Amino acid sequence: MNMAKYKGDILELLYHNRSTYLSGQTIAERLAISRTAVWKTIELLKQQGFRVHSVQNKGYQLTGFPEEWDQDMMALIIKQSSYFKRRFVYKEVTSTQLVAKEKLLEIDEPFIVISEVQTAGRGRFNRSWDSQGTKGLWMTAVFRRDVPLQKMMSFNLFLSLAIAKTIRRMSGAEAKIKWPNDIYIDDRKCCGFLTEISGEAALIQNIICGIGINLNHEASDFQQDLAVKATSLKAATGHPVNRYQFLEELLIEIEAAFRQFLVLDFKDIKDEYGQYSNIWQRKLRYTEGTTVVEGVAVEILDDGRLVVQDEKGTLHHFMSADIEI
Ligand code: BTN
Repeated sequence: MNMAKYKGDILELLYHNRSTYLSGQTIAERLAISRTAVWKTIELLKQQGFRVHSVQNKGYQLTGFPEEWDQDMMALIIKQSSYFKRRFVYKEVTSTQLVAKEKLLEIDEPFIVISEVQTAGRGRFNRSWDSQGTKGLWMTAVFRRDVPLQKMMSFNLFLSLAIAKTIRRMSGAEAKIKWPNDIYIDDRKCCGFLTEISGEAALIQNIICGIGINLNHEASDFQQDLAVKATSLKAATGHPVNRYQFLEELLIEIEAAFRQFLVLDFKDIKDEYGQYSNIWQRKLRYTEGTTVVEGVAVEILDDGRLVVQDEKGTLHHFMSADIEI
């Protein structure tokens, strides 16, 4: 008997009832299959790295997940999403951003691309992005919608707030936003994202947002310059994060942020964004193109620009900047 065909359905039942036990009988009845088929499929799940706890007279409980992203679990998670319709999950790609841009041409719906490992992960300013397997979330989310170009400036601000909230809720760590769109814990970066757009002159049709989040790295996983600059949710709190649950929550949160972004202005979330920000009352170095300013951030304007005051009292306005913390 080929048990793989029942795997998705049984996984779905176990996942949605994971706070309790489901008896073999109940699973068999719900899916109209034999108890032997249930038992054999549970064995298959275990072989694939799921932990299923079984207790006599109570049944089965899903208590653990495979180390590597599992295709059927990903299918379940994307089913929960009310916005993203398809997912592409790989063991290894150069960069999810590049794969997403290729897929754009053949797919009209919103979708996500996830890879366990990226061999050429890239960050802003074309810096390399360390993307080792099983520890993080390396994902590109593609939003499809006509958006006027001038509105796009606030997209990253809405999204960074959504990501910071998810990190706080899922880890308890005090995630902060380093304007415009890096997420920090204890002055170390745990997440960055970059947004690319395509469409016609003044009307954007595709938003290709690549998000990298360090989830379960040990502090010792960060080598060389990263050792003092990077952290993960686990390194910061001492507790591992369930990557599937995190992804599920993150998708819910970024979908909601995208919907907000379409109908609200940045000024509507400015106060909340400001409360998450980690740049206030600190003298920092801001670089945008050839402009370098050392100063203290004084406010974020309604359109998302940052105002920095240098030592002489001169005010500088930034659209986006690299900030050294
Ligand atoms: C930054 O902070 O500079 C942005 C980092 C973005 C990394 C993510 S990981 C998934 C996606 N694929 C990439 O190559 N980059 C983004």
